Amino acid sequence: MNEKYYITTPIYYPSDKLHIGHTYCTVATDALARYKRLQGYDVMFLTGTDEHGQKIEDKAKEAGVTPQEFVDRIVTGERGVLDLWKLMNISNDRFIRTTDDYHVAAIQKIFKKMYDNGDIYKGTYKGKYCKPCESFWTESQLVDGKCPDCGREVQDAEEEAYFFRLSKYADKVQDLLENTDFLEPRSRVNEMVNNFIKPGLEDLCVSRTSFTWGVPVDFDPGHVVYVWVDALSNYITALGFMNDRYNDYEKYWPCDVHIVGKEIVRFHSIIWPAMLMSLGEPLPKKVFGHGWLLLDGGKMSKSKGNVVDPYILAEKFGVDALRFFLMRTFPFGSDGNFSNELLIQTINTDLANDLGNLLSRTTAMVQKYFGGALPEGCKTWATPESFDTELIGMASGLREKYQAAMDTFAPHKALEEIFKVIQRANKYIDENAPWALAKDMDQNGARLAHVLYNLLETTCICGILLTPFMPGSMDKLFAQIGAAPEARTWESAAVWGSLSDTAAVTKGENLFPRVDVEKALQELEEAAEAAKKAALPPLEFEPLLEEKVDFDTFCKNDLRVVKVKDCQAVKKSNKLLKFTLDDGTGTDRQILSGIAQWYKPEELIGKTLAAIVNLPPRKMMGQESQGMLLSAVHTEHGEERLNLIMLNDAIPAGAKLC
Ligand code: ME8
Repeated sequence: MNEKYYITTPIYYPSDKLHIGHTYCTVATDALARYKRLQGYDVMFLTGTDEHGQKIEDKAKEAGVTPQEFVDRIVTGERGVLDLWKLMNISNDRFIRTTDDYHVAAIQKIFKKMYDNGDIYKGTYKGKYCKPCESFWTESQLVDGKCPDCGREVQDAEEEAYFFRLSKYADKVQDLLENTDFLEPRSRVNEMVNNFIKPGLEDLCVSRTSFTWGVPVDFDPGHVVYVWVDALSNYITALGFMNDRYNDYEKYWPCDVHIVGKEIVRFHSIIWPAMLMSLGEPLPKKVFGHGWLLLDGGKMSKSKGNVVDPYILAEKFGVDALRFFLMRTFPFGSDGNFSNELLIQTINTDLANDLGNLLSRTTAMVQKYFGGALPEGCKTWATPESFDTELIGMASGLREKYQAAMDTFAPHKALEEIFKVIQRANKYIDENAPWALAKDMDQNGARLAHVLYNLLETTCICGILLTPFMPGSMDKLFAQIGAAPEARTWESAAVWGSLSDTAAVTKGENLFPRVDVEKALQELEEAAEAAKKAALPPLEFEPLLEEKVDFDTFCKNDLRVVKVKDCQAVKKSNKLLKFTLDDGTGTDRQILSGIAQWYKPEELIGKTLAAIVNLPPRKMMGQESQGMLLSAVHTEHGEERLNLIMLNDAIPAGAKLC
């Protein structure tokens, strides 16, 4: 088979590091792309980054770098987007950045073509603008006067802008949505038609003049192409549309499916087809809108500070365990609540218990009872038991059910079917009690070999179908059960007996170790806390005071060198230390200072410090404090730090500081 299959993820905004929600979308698309490759399709899997816009311009300014430097850091920098996809074993064939030269030049041509055919015109934009979402809204689209996507405040906006005649395509788009399978899940069709098309589709603002970080409109300096024309066109420019960088447009377009999150279904199912209609190009075959991963019931977002870091999870539990969890747990078209507990529970139940046990028990028994290879001829058994027939039937029929689920974008259902078979296989071990058969190998050896073959072959079929989800681990699984390349194919997944009956089996490393729940949860909490801290500014200082102080006023501060004669913690206070000080007068001075968090009393005895000694005495915890010790204060990764001013011990007590 050499049929083409073109599949895409959205291109990600590199305004912040990516989180588990982004990873979810890319892993799902990767699993679908790998599934198609397994079936023999010639797959083009595209992902990339959407690097223009005001948000990026603002963030770069905040960080004191150029917008290009800013996005480079997040896309190609350490633990950036490219690193993350490499870690997650994402098999994209191409990666587009909207700042790539060829894309920029193609966008200018696309914009000009739509302008020349009368679909883009100049006007004035008046409306509401949500800065974090970079979305314009009409008054009627707001919810309680706020952005319908994120619920934040919107601003009035008015400026000269180019518009795309979206309204012209309203009927055609409505027809596409209502009368074809263009948009799935079907429930999203009503949402689009009722919320956006029926109330009247307004023309779309497609250029801006109030920021510069975008593709310049080459025939009207001052305007930059505004977000969706730039972003959506990536799906065709990455194939070579209106550019010479690639030459795959004829080959792969129209796209088979755009996988997108539910909040951008609107752009993909209304604006994108209308743009393509305007350009006179074929429409993609399908847009699939998946749900969100929620945290405590709400959407993850960096600005809310509730993002989950995929690096931490992948490093802790393994890339495949994380990929598997994401696909197994959440129905792809709906929202799902992420939690660490759920992740660990899924790893322990499905991977460690069910799949891990099946593999380790089976391989261990082949080694123990047959020295690592079953005898020839053990594939068949003349008088099968009912449980033989049941297991073989389920395993042989698995591919069909799996395919039906994968073809309808329900990877969670495909995995559910696989695990029914794995659970059945584990039960089959108990039903056959191989350890009992092994007691009399002369009598039962042939039967035992057949039972173990059935288990190996079932594991092999499940392994083939799990490959799109856990490619790395399945390679290891195949090595352990001795599955040759020809036994690992899509075809062999539906033909019972593809695995050689004399394959060399080795009980290798435990692929899915059990996770200690308590320990892992605590470590995750600590890692999240450390990551949060590391993200805070390394050093912060109080701003310098604007107000001037005259010299005479300054001189009224009596600053002296003091020596610590004694220092003790104040009872019932976890903050205060009590100092007995030599201030050069011959009479001890007592000062209380709230620095117990930073110093142990005994380490300060004998030190030479600085104090202001003419503050009016003050009572703290019933004790008098006659002045204040001087210290330096700053904030490090969000935590307050304090250092007492320590002076050279050669300076005598009582010396004046000036
Ligand atoms: O939307 N759960 O980029 P983006 C599931 N640049 N999916 C999530 C998610 C979550 N918690 N958070 C984000 C953009 N996503 C545009 C796309 S395409 C021409 C331009 C998904 O980085 C989100 O739904 O904000 C979207 O599909 C993708 O991550 C990229 O989001």
